Amino acid sequence: MKNAKTVFDRRLSRHYDELKWLYMELYRDEEAFRYFLGMLNQCWKERKKSLRDQDARREADPNWYRRRELLGMMLYADAFAGSLEGVRKNLKYIRECGVNYLHLMPLLDTPKGRSDGGYAVSDFRAVRPDLGTMGDLESLADACRKAGISLCLDFVMNHTSEEHEWAKKARAGETGYRERYFFYNNWKIPMEFEKTVPQVFPTTAPGSFTQLEDGQIVMTSFYPYQWDLNYANPVVFNDMTENLLYLANRGIDVVRLDAIPYIWKQLGTNCRNLPQVHTLARMLRIVCEVVCPGVLLLGEVVMEPSKVAPYFGTPEKPECHMLYNVTTMATTWHTLATGDVSLLRRQMDAVCELPKDFLFLNYLRCHDDIGWGLDYPWLQERFHIFEVAHKKYLNDWFTSRWPGSPARGELYNDDPRLGDARLCGTTASLCGLEAADFEGDPFKLERAVSCDLTLHAWMLSQSGIPVVYSGDEVGRFNDYTYHDDPDKRADSRYLHRGTFQWGLAEYRKDPSTYQGKLFQGLRRLEDIRGAEPCFDAGAEVRTEDSGDSRVLAVSRRAGGRELICLFNFSNQFVWAGVDREGAYTELMYGTKYDSIHAVELWPNGFAWLLRDDGAD
Ligand code: GLC
Repeated sequence: MKNAKTVFDRRLSRHYDELKWLYMELYRDEEAFRYFLGMLNQCWKERKKSLRDQDARREADPNWYRRRELLGMMLYADAFAGSLEGVRKNLKYIRECGVNYLHLMPLLDTPKGRSDGGYAVSDFRAVRPDLGTMGDLESLADACRKAGISLCLDFVMNHTSEEHEWAKKARAGETGYRERYFFYNNWKIPMEFEKTVPQVFPTTAPGSFTQLEDGQIVMTSFYPYQWDLNYANPVVFNDMTENLLYLANRGIDVVRLDAIPYIWKQLGTNCRNLPQVHTLARMLRIVCEVVCPGVLLLGEVVMEPSKVAPYFGTPEKPECHMLYNVTTMATTWHTLATGDVSLLRRQMDAVCELPKDFLFLNYLRCHDDIGWGLDYPWLQERFHIFEVAHKKYLNDWFTSRWPGSPARGELYNDDPRLGDARLCGTTASLCGLEAADFEGDPFKLERAVSCDLTLHAWMLSQSGIPVVYSGDEVGRFNDYTYHDDPDKRADSRYLHRGTFQWGLAEYRKDPSTYQGKLFQGLRRLEDIRGAEPCFDAGAEVRTEDSGDSRVLAVSRRAGGRELICLFNFSNQFVWAGVDREGAYTELMYGTKYDSIHAVELWPNGFAWLLRDDGAD
C-alpha cells in the first residue's frame, strides 16, 4: 500500500519545529506561515522527475560537492557565446577545460543601461530576451546535467530593479507593494540611516537612498535603480523564496545568494550581517532541504573572515553550503605586489583552523573588483604598513604607476577622500602578460606566464572548489572598449568582463604560444589535482616554514601521502624548502629531489612536491 506521507512531508517533519520557530520569530504571522508551507509543497510537486531523482541521489551522497575533481568556471553567456543556446552548443569547450561546475552570470531580465551587469532583475521568471528564453535555460540545465556539469545561477535577493512589477506598482501607490520596499515621504529617516550605513558604491552611486521624480524616497543601497526589498515583510520572503524555487525547478544546482549580508535593514545599525540575516539564510537552507535537497546555497559574503564564516551556520544548523574565500583572494594579490608571504601565510593559517566541512570557493578573479580587505591592524603592528598608504601602493602597483610593475589594471570607485579605491583587471593583465605582449618581449612574457600559472597552482592547492574566470584559461587581457560605451564607461568592472576571444582559444593546443602554455599548464595542474588524494577537502593542511619570506610553503597530507607546495611570490630566483627528510618528486615537471631542504624556484615559480614513499 502506498504510504500516505509524501517525501515532502517526511522531509518537512524533520525541520518543521525549527522552521516554524524561526519564521514566527521574524514575522509572528500564522497565516503567512501556512501560505509559505503550501507554496513549498506546490514547488515540490512541480519539480520534475529528473530533478527529484537527482535530489534522491545527492541526499544519499551528501558529500557529492566536496570532491577534489570539482572544477568551476564563471562566465557571461553573451560574452562567451552570444546566448544560452550558444553556451549549450559550446559545452564541449567547457568540458575540454575540465569544468564540471558552471556559474552563469546574471541572465534574468534586466533593463538595458540600468542593469548593474544583470544584478538589477526586473523579472525573476524571464530570461533577458537577447540571451534566450526560460526554455533555453532549462534545456541548457538539462544538457549540463547529462554532461555532469552543475549549474550555478545568481539569485539577486537584496533588491529588484525599479522596473520590476512590484516596484512599478509600489511607485504607483498600489496597496501591498509599497511595503515590499523602504519608502519614505521625507528625508528624516533616510538621513538617520545614512549616519550609520556605510556606502557600497561611494563614487558611482553615493548614498543609500534615491529620491524619485514625484518626491518619494526609496532605499537603494546599490545603484539608484536597485530598490532594496523589505524582508521584514513576510510577503517579500514568501514570494522571493518562491522565485528561488522556480529557478531551482528549472534545473539550477547552485544558487548564489547575491549580497546576502545586506538583506535585513535596521535603523541605528550598519545594516550588514544582522542576526535576522542568519535567520533568513537558515530558513532558505531548510527550504532547500525540504523541497530540493540536491540544490546548494552559495553565499556571496565579500567581507573579512570573521563576518564570512558565520554564514556556514553550525553543524546542527547549517546555513550556506559554500562561501567565497575572498580574503585569501585579495591577500594573494597583495602578496604578488609585495613579494612577501607573511600575511598570506597568516591568512592560510586562519583558514586551516576552520572546521574542515566549511567549503570555500577559491578564485583569483571574478566579475567584481578586488577590494583591499586585508588584515591592516596586523600589517601595521608587524611591518608598520598603514592602510591608506598601502592601498595606494597596491593600486599604484597594479595600475603600473609603480616603477617596474608589469601589471595593467584600472581603479574602481576611487574615492580620494578615503583613499579607498579598489581594483579591476584580468588575471593575465595583472600578472604582466598584457604588457609583455605589447612590448613583444619574450623574456617578460615567459615570466608573466609563469606568474599566472603559479597563481593558478596556488588557487588549486587550497581545499575547496577552484573557480576559473572564463578567459583566464587562455590569458585574456583587459578589454578597454567599455570606455566607449556610455552604458558602461562609469563602471570599470567592465574592464574584465569583455567578450570571450575565441581567436585566443584557437591557440590553446599550441604549446609555443602563451595561450597554449597557459591552457595546457592549467589542464595539467587540474588533472594532477583531480588524481592526487592529498588535494582532498578532508586533507590535513598547514603552512610550513620555507626559510624565505618570499616563498609560501604549504603541506597537504592524506592517507599516508604528503604533498609540499612551494610558491615563489618574488620575481627572483630563490632557493627555499622545508624541514623534511627523504626523496620527493615534483608533479608538474617530474623532477626528482633527494632532499627538499633547498629547492630552486624560478621567479614567480612554484613546485608541487610529492613524497616518494607515498607516491603509489
Ligand atoms: C554583488 C555582485 C555585484 C553587484 C552587487 C549588487 O556584490 O557581485 O556585481 O554589483 O551584488 O547586486
